[in-house]
Amino acid sequence: MEKNKKIKVGILGATGMVGQRFLSLLQNHPWFEVSVVAASRKSAGKKLGSLTIYSVEDDIEIICKNCSLVFSAINADKEFIKKIEEAYAGKGLPVVSNNSAHRWTEDVPMIMPEINPQHLDIIPIQKKNHGWTAGFIVVKPNCSIQSYVPLLSAWKDFNPKKIIVSTYQAISGAGKTFETWPEMIDNVIPYIGGEEEKSEREPLKIFGKINKIKAGKFVLESALEISTNCIRVPVSDGHLAAINIQFGKKVSKEELIKALKDFKNPLDGLDLPSAPKPFLTYFEESDRPQTRLDRDLGNGMGISVGRIREDSVLGWKCVALSHNTIRGAAGGAILTAELLVKKGYIK
Ligand SMILES: NC(=O)c1ccc[n+]([C@@H]2O[C@H](COP(=O)([O-])OP(=O)(O)OC[C@H]3O[C@@H](n4cnc5c(N)ncnc54)[C@H](OP(=O)(O)O)[C@@H]3O)[C@@H](O)[C@H]2O)c1
Repeated sequence: MEKNKKIKVGILGATGMVGQRFLSLLQNHPWFEVSVVAASRKSAGKKLGSLTIYSVEDDIEIICKNCSLVFSAINADKEFIKKIEEAYAGKGLPVVSNNSAHRWTEDVPMIMPEINPQHLDIIPIQKKNHGWTAGFIVVKPNCSIQSYVPLLSAWKDFNPKKIIVSTYQAISGAGKTFETWPEMIDNVIPYIGGEEEKSEREPLKIFGKINKIKAGKFVLESALEISTNCIRVPVSDGHLAAINIQFGKKVSKEELIKALKDFKNPLDGLDLPSAPKPFLTYFEESDRPQTRLDRDLGNGMGISVGRIREDSVLGWKCVALSHNTIRGAAGGAILTAELLVKKGYIK
């Protein structure tokens, strides 16, 4: 795409941890250029690089005039975010959101591009439901599930039935650094508000189906049970997960590794700029993946897996890693937007 043909995008919540990731990832993006940034009223009027910051709630008209798509990375009250995202969609803009506010809205797809791109088929129904002509809302799932949902997808032929996951989550997941959260130095906090519920439920929508009879609604996957423990650890970026899994079918370690290597990626051949190659990497070394060494695989968009071994309780166990602010937030949203462009939802 030529520079003057690039799609103009806006970032809502541009001053935050995820907003900053959007800005750095979009700096030399071949399809998108950031034309407008916005945050809360207290930041409005200040500068972010060469751009003036607008108010997300007061400057909707001018923001909508200056871009063709917005990425939402706001951290605020859920009802407020729901209304704001609907307001932008109502003004004709596609909204790709990192926030959880709309994840359980019935006609809003929750997309991991490599896993459930077919869920974008609900967009015309969503637009019809609201009477929106051009705008719509698509959301990204929580950062904590990005490493183990791809495994469940790669291993679906072995019929995953029960999984127990413990996540070791970075402090940037709370929008924090060691400077802003010194209490996390030399510390582990065994609680992340709301995270276990999201980690257990969101995969069921991702693996669900659009109801053909009552269109505009997802039927959740019912054959999978997930239990999680979400723990905050003193790491800057990268969420590691330890996974115990029970399959309905008998399987060998070689078959599990082969299924990761042979994963049929629905993005292959689409040439999306942010799609990592490979999507899944399996490490043979027993001390990998490691958060600091491996979180940047595929520019932070790759998922890495290791330590597949037998488990005396559920059958199998392994570890997996994903970058929370790239794959789990800004990068995942940008890849979703690229898919929307490729599929013709964003002109
Ligand atoms: N961090 C991660 O790894 C991660 C991963 C996945 C999803 N997410 C989600 O992404 C979103 C952003 O997370 P974050 O970590 O970047 O949060 P953050 O660092 O706290 O940034 C929050 C952003 O929201 C803006 N904001 C706050 N209140 C607002 C209001 N009333 N109106 C308009 N803008 C407002 C802030 O603007 P001001 O600077 O003006 O206050 C700031 O730009 C959250 O929904 C989070 O759950 C985060």
